[in-house]
Amino acid sequence: MNSNSQCSFEWKVSQRKHTQDDPGEPRHSSLRLGVLISGSGSNLQALIDAIEAKQLPGVEIALVVSNNAHAQGVQRALKHNVPVIYMPWEQKLAGAHISAPSKGELSHSETKLTSLLHLFQVNLIVLAGWMRILSAPFLEQFPRQVINLHPALLPNDGTGPIYTTRDGTRIPVFRGLHAVRQALQAGVKVTGSTVHYVTPEVDAGPVICRAELPIEPGDTEESLHERLKKVEHRLIVEAIRICGKQPYVK
Ligand code: GRF
Repeated sequence: MNSNSQCSFEWKVSQRKHTQDDPGEPRHSSLRLGVLISGSGSNLQALIDAIEAKQLPGVEIALVVSNNAHAQGVQRALKHNVPVIYMPWEQKLAGAHISAPSKGELSHSETKLTSLLHLFQVNLIVLAGWMRILSAPFLEQFPRQVINLHPALLPNDGTGPIYTTRDGTRIPVFRGLHAVRQALQAGVKVTGSTVHYVTPEVDAGPVICRAELPIEPGDTEESLHERLKKVEHRLIVEAIRICGKQPYVK
């Protein structure tokens, strides 16, 4: 046993495609979410509430993973008997416009995460305030099965520096960390939130759904983010409904 390991258990990535029928194992036909969090988990709570209120038939949260043991979202999951795992993550999201690592291998943390997602038969991975980068090799294992909630407006295909609001105003696209602060500092009148498919480039994948929100005079980063989160709590539920209709998550 080396100094980093606490047991001799070896994490291995299953080569089995989790979209295939596997005789001998129960196969779930529902949409099984793996929700990845790092903090307060209010969007996780919105999903829990929608499922408990039967607003998302056929959807269940198979697993919550947090890279932060003290995240409020962990307690939210426990309170609602949703399986939750704390998984320390070695690699940090270091800057506002950092690109995902492009080397051909999964990191140690990603290998563990992959095993867990297969074990819990997750077929849609939801990044809900997950503050870690997932590499291209990790994402390739789950094509169009990883979605992210971003507190700014992204154009339809996710790429490019400009977003055109519903009233035709062209505003910069704010990606990466502190997107709410970036919008305030840029002095734009409208911001919003977007749910998009995750691609290796950060906050640049095709949009699933999005909502605009006016910035009010006197807004601070905190007040604006609080209002945005209320919008997000509807948006994330809508995104799950849309994804549930796609063939590749079955
Ligand atoms: C949300 O604003 C989301 O857009 C961003 O992180 C925040 C997570 O909030 N990626 P919560 O943990 O769900 O309350």
